[in-house]
Amino acid sequence: MQYDNIVLIGFMGSGKTSVGKALARQLYKNFVDVDTVIEAEQNSSITDIFENKGEEYFRSLEQKCINELTQKTGQIIATGGGLPIYSAIPEKSLIINIDADFDVILERLSAKERNKRPLLQDESGARALFDQRIDTYRELAQFSVDANQKIPVFIHLIYDFILDQRVL
Ligand code: S3P
Repeated sequence: MQYDNIVLIGFMGSGKTSVGKALARQLYKNFVDVDTVIEAEQNSSITDIFENKGEEYFRSLEQKCINELTQKTGQIIATGGGLPIYSAIPEKSLIINIDADFDVILERLSAKERNKRPLLQDESGARALFDQRIDTYRELAQFSVDANQKIPVFIHLIYDFILDQRVL
């Protein structure tokens, strides 16, 4: 099957944005990050959107944003960790899951990075969220890559998969 876009999913802090940027460079594709687009359109940080308008409103922005972004083709799209849980990812997207352990995520994220994520503030709540979501990420993805590796290895694995399947 020919896909329109590559959509990266995975829990907060799994590395979707870093992998997405590197992959886009490698494939000469445009990179877009759903959270960044939402923040720019709302002129507000994710934290402020959660605080002032609530999570449900944020989820509706995510669905609208992924629908609009996928009107175009040939992009690498990084999603927020909750997007595939609450929104339908349009068909003809090649979904790649960046599969990370919760403890590895916590270890890797700086305090600043943690503070940008309202749902990571309470560690036990975040761990429960991770446990609830992990199977869905794996089921939705056509391909999962282990987050425990260096960016060039990711790119290599994803690139091989794409070439193998002649997908983009
Ligand atoms: C969320 C993940 C965040 C951001 C928001 C909610 C989630 O994105 O969309 O804080 O529900 O997992 P990252 O996965 O890029 O941190």
